[in-house]
Amino acid sequence: MDKIIVEGGRRLEGEVRISGAKNAALPIMAATLLARGAYTLRNVPSLVDVRTMGEMLRVLGAGVEHHDHSITIDTTGCEAREAPYELVKQMRASICVLGPILARHGVARVSLPGGCAWGPRPVDFHIRAMETLGAKVTLEHGYIVAECERLKGATIHFDTPSVGATENAMMAASLAEGTTTIENAAREPEIGALAGFLRSMGARITGDGTDRIVIDGVDELFAADVEIIPDRIEAGTFMVAAAITGGDVLITGMRTDHCSAVIGKLKETGAEITEEGGGLRVKGPVWARSVNVTTAPYPGFPTDMQAQFMALMSVADSTAVITDTIYADRFAHVPELKRLGARIRVDRNVGVVNGVKRLSGARVMATDLRASAALILAGLVAEGETHVSRVYHIDRGYEKIEKKLAELGARIRRERE
Ligand code: UD1
Repeated sequence: MDKIIVEGGRRLEGEVRISGAKNAALPIMAATLLARGAYTLRNVPSLVDVRTMGEMLRVLGAGVEHHDHSITIDTTGCEAREAPYELVKQMRASICVLGPILARHGVARVSLPGGCAWGPRPVDFHIRAMETLGAKVTLEHGYIVAECERLKGATIHFDTPSVGATENAMMAASLAEGTTTIENAAREPEIGALAGFLRSMGARITGDGTDRIVIDGVDELFAADVEIIPDRIEAGTFMVAAAITGGDVLITGMRTDHCSAVIGKLKETGAEITEEGGGLRVKGPVWARSVNVTTAPYPGFPTDMQAQFMALMSVADSTAVITDTIYADRFAHVPELKRLGARIRVDRNVGVVNGVKRLSGARVMATDLRASAALILAGLVAEGETHVSRVYHIDRGYEKIEKKLAELGARIRRERE
């Protein structure tokens, strides 16, 4: 296993390019199961999660080739209907093959994802959406077993907007008979990206980007090519890296319009953020102001940026209240940040962060993807060395983060543990 070692105290300067979005690539890869044929996906990030989804498609019978930043997928021979436990347990997003397999074959067996490092993450919305579209769903030996003749369009209402369930419902409904309306749908940019891809495959979808998506089912879809949108969470993480080090970084290849909430909050901390040549220049404040943050579904502040923002608030000038309304206990990074000297109290889904003047490097453990990023960010400003172990989490979602940070001037390296 690898660890990342950061020596704090360097101001980040220079230019960094953002990779394609993991959370857009994964459902789009799953969507290739909806139609036989050859696909090319471009601007795909080189990440463990992407390879896991590639492996899943192979197990389902597809030919998958990973190139530098593109993937070719051939689903001509896809006949398998089972997403096995061994792969689903590695990556919760595997659940998004449920809708496509069911819609295509009339039967799907997908392992239940099981636990997560930070609290229960149920899949009941996914199951209910398939039932609403007419599938009979049972749970057998740890597997979701869904069956139908042909899915039938219906109105699906989500209690809270779920990204994954909206995606699953959209994919399944694309091949259903008749019209489906998804109410209280998620509005994340990744939903729009998937809807755009499905449209290029021949699907008839309107309303993506709003909370009401309408899908007129078609009899057949066709293979298509696609360019994956930039990763707004990676962009946000580099914005915080610039801010926390009081640096001056030009972030290119990103969609600034997908990052409005994070940009707004960082400006409140005193960061200077300006658009420059299609990118974003972020100049960090000398000492960040403490700013309260509440996570919310898009276009609100993303839960996937909560840990990184907390790292910044750990060295801010007074007290910040950070509330996560999406997940009840996504605070596994708190005890580790405290090992670096942060002063944080957690009461249920609320973290109260009293900024300190400086953090001090220590050995810490990455507990999940975004927590790992937060610890590296904190390490950038901690005195001495911070050793972040179990960094396999970071390889699931950040492409070459240590290389990109080193190019900006950070003293950071990867070592075998
Ligand atoms: C996606 C993202 C993840 C991000 C999350 C919230 C991907 C691959 N992952 O995850 O990085 O943190 O959105 O922005 O895109 N819920 C239920 N029942 C369900 C499904 C969800 O109760 O069946 C709840 C969840 O517990 C959570 C909320 O709905 O409280 C939103 O979760 P959801 O949007 O579904 O997250 P994911 O799609 O799993």
